This record gives sequence, C-alpha cells and structure tokens, in this order.
Amino acid sequence: MNEVSRPHATLELNREQLRQLGYSIIDEMVKHYDSLPDQLIGMTKDRPSLEALLREPLPLTPQDPHEVLERAVQDVFGNTIKSQHTRFFAFVPGPSNSVSALADMLAAGFNAFSGSWYESSGPSMVELVTVDWLRQLIGMPETTVGTFTSGGSVANLSAIHVARHHHLGINDQDGVIYYSDQTHSSIDRAVRILGLRNHQVRRLPSDSRYRLSVDMLYGAVTSDKAAGLKPFCVIANAGTTNTGAVDDLEAIADLCQEEGLWMHVDGAYGASAALSERGKALLKGIERADSVTIDPHKWLFQPYEIGCLLVKEGTLLRDAFRLVPEYLKDMDKSDDMVNYWDYGLQLTRGFRALKLWMSFKVFGVEAFRDAVDWGIEQAEFVQQLLEANPRWEIITAAQIGIINFRYVPEGLVTSEFLNTLQQRIVDDLLASEYAVIATTILKKRKVIRLILINPRTTVEEIQATIERLTQLGEQYSVTLQATVTE
Ligand SMILES: Cc1ncc(COP(=O)(O)O)c(C=O)c1O
Repeated sequence: MNEVSRPHATLELNREQLRQLGYSIIDEMVKHYDSLPDQLIGMTKDRPSLEALLREPLPLTPQDPHEVLERAVQDVFGNTIKSQHTRFFAFVPGPSNSVSALADMLAAGFNAFSGSWYESSGPSMVELVTVDWLRQLIGMPETTVGTFTSGGSVANLSAIHVARHHHLGINDQDGVIYYSDQTHSSIDRAVRILGLRNHQVRRLPSDSRYRLSVDMLYGAVTSDKAAGLKPFCVIANAGTTNTGAVDDLEAIADLCQEEGLWMHVDGAYGASAALSERGKALLKGIERADSVTIDPHKWLFQPYEIGCLLVKEGTLLRDAFRLVPEYLKDMDKSDDMVNYWDYGLQLTRGFRALKLWMSFKVFGVEAFRDAVDWGIEQAEFVQQLLEANPRWEIITAAQIGIINFRYVPEGLVTSEFLNTLQQRIVDDLLASEYAVIATTILKKRKVIRLILINPRTTVEEIQATIERLTQLGEQYSVTLQATVTE
C-alpha cells in the first residue's frame, strides 16, 4: 500500500503572519486613501519599462510576504492611473469607497460561492435584498428580478440575450435591434458575440442633443416590419458615455409598448442619477423598461467589479439562462431558493452584493444621494467657470456629471486647427500629472470632455483644473497659430 499521509504544503501562513500581513494591507489602503489628493496622477509607463520591472521567473520558493506586498504597492499599484483620484475626470471614473473595499476582502476571505442557494443561502438572500434596493431606487415594479454581473458590458449582453430569447426564440435570423450612434460600444460587442448579422442591427444617427431620434426609430421599425423583418429590441441610453444624454425614455417606452418591442435601458453610468431628485426627473420613463443596466462600480462608488441587470418580468431572465445538468439536480429544489447561476452566464460567482450591502448600510443611502448630487453640481460649476471666459465654447451643457467644451481662440481658425488645439491642451495637462482628462469626438469636432462624479473632489481642484486648461489654451493658441502662419 502507498504512503497516504506525508508532510505537505497547505498554502497557509501561521495566524500571526496572517494577521500581520492583513494589518499591513489595511495600513497600505489607509495610506493610499489619505494621500490620494496629494498624489500626482501618474503617467503610464511603457511596456519595456514594465517588462524590466516585473518580468521574472516562476517563483518556486517562498518569499517574505511583506516584501511581496511592498512590490505590489510600489511596482504594481505604483504604475496605475488611479480612477478614484479626486482629479480623475476621464472615461468613467471609479470613485469607490473604503468600506466596500474591505467588504470585498471579507467576501474573498469567506470565499462564498454565490451561484446556488444550497451553498450560499445568506449571500443569495443579501443579493436578493440589494438588487431589490436598486430596483426601488430606479422605480421598477415588484416583479423585477436582477443579478449582479462583472460590469455593464455583461449586463447589456445578458439583457439582449433575454430579449432575443423571449421575442424570437431560436428563430432569430430576422430579428432586428435598434440603438443610437451614441450607444456604448459594449452593445456593439454584445451584438457581435450573440451572432446578430449586419442586416439585424440599426445604429441610428442621434439627434442634435445626442439622443436617439424617436421619429427615426419609428420609421426604421415600420419599414423593417413592412420588409418582413422582426424588430425585437430597442436599446435606450440613460446617460451616454460621451455627453450624459438621456434618451426620451417615455417616448421610447410608448413606442416599444405599441410595437411589441423589448426596451432595454443602458444606465450603466447614468441610472445612478435616479438617487437624486433632479436625476430622477431626467430619467423619467426608465421604470417602464423591460430591463435596465446599472453599474454600481461607476456612480454608486463601489470598487470594481460590480454591474447589475434588472429585468421587469423576472421569470424571463431565468428562462433565458436556466439549464439543469444532472450533477446540479440536487440543488434545484424550489423556486424560492434562488440559484443565481440560473440568472446569468456565470456558474461560479463571487459575493459581489456584499460590498454594496455593507456600504449602503454603513453610510446610509442619503449619503449616496448627496454624493450623486454633488457630481451633478460639479459639472454645473465647471460650466459656470467656462461661461465666464468667452474663449471656451460649451459643446454639450453639464448633464448628470458630464460636460464637453473646446477652446476657441480669437480670430479665424480652421476646424483642423481647433481639433489639434484641444488635443494639445489635453496632452499637456496629462503630462503635468495634475489631472486626468480625455477628448472625445462629437459630430466630427474634437472636444474636451470632463466627467465629475467623485464626491471627494473639491471646488478648489475644479477651479485649478479649469485654470490650467485655460492657460494651456492661451499658450497653444499663440504657438500653434504661429506654426500655421509660418
Ligand atoms: C453607458 C455605458 N454602458 C456600458 C458600459 C460598460 O460597462 P463596463 O465597463 O462595466 O463593462 C459603460 C462603461 O463605461 C458605459 O459608460
């Protein structure tokens, strides 16, 4: 008989080492949060520098955990641009919060498998409750069921899958989906993954306010129906990534109701504005959607990753995903005992709900409401600052935290010159490492886009950012113009 017991590795630290490592990790996190506003927002290093810093052979033997932690803090996190920095105004920031970060650590520590009720009744119940809180904030009916996902992309993908499954079943070759050209690229990707062909996708030009044109939508649906195609889904935006534009959700809901179409609202970023009274008014009609994406890792201040899909007729979500293989039959006992693996594409799932649940409880939702309100006000404050200087042209007014503008020097200038100028301003602000901002293109114009959703951003930081942008605008108008004239 072979020897069955021998000394072997159990991949554990002793208690004291574990505690010390844990305390050191928490200390690093606290130091990080405290020093964030004073940190320059680092520039990304190039690949050769990082190869030199981090490429190493497979570590076969143990290393001191504190040294490994130090490497992680210095060399790994030291080479990130912090999206939770108070002067990160690009893309969609991730302002996050410290309680949720600790909750993530706790969830990983207990390693709760959140796919089945059997293995995880407590976490599953917390997910039911927390998803329902989001439903209430958005105002969807009680039939709504939802699930936490890795983010908005997977929530959007899942929504289109549910819509197609419900409306078309397997006869999906003639199904048509509609959305505006301002819709997030995750929808284009979802459509590609789901295998929809070009003739099944209508990417309609947005109107002058960057919203889906309901007239154009109606025209497209009518002519597709007349051609024998099967319109099945409209993606409406509640806060486009470019401008924060909210489509006319009431009108789209009416149209979808009349035409028998699934209405999905991509509110990955903007649906959180429902917490604020003003945001709620803007989002009117969202509660009528068949499904809604909302990303708590954006404007609900959660660390990555947590997105959420809400589906008005909850049974449709489950119908679209549920499969019960023989090895999981024991766990498929009763509909009350929710198995979250029936609600999405993940079987093994972490306990994402914990961070939202803990932070809502620890801070109270009123604090979140206030933080969202401050985001809306910050962009309006930027608008006021820009309006005080005639050289700044507002391209899209402040809307749920986003504003787009450009610097227009005095005198006659070409549109090409203006585009180059905005890029130079942004590149040089980035090089100063004071703030992170980005450009975008709106109707062929390069513009500077600011998104301000970090509750820790101060008035002084906003003023200083606009002052720096203005100085760069003045400086480059002169130098670039001189180059053009030469
Ligand atoms: C409107 C919108 N939808 C979807 C997404 C994709 O979300 P995620 O990055 O969480 O997958 C984003 C991301 O910025 C977004 O702004």
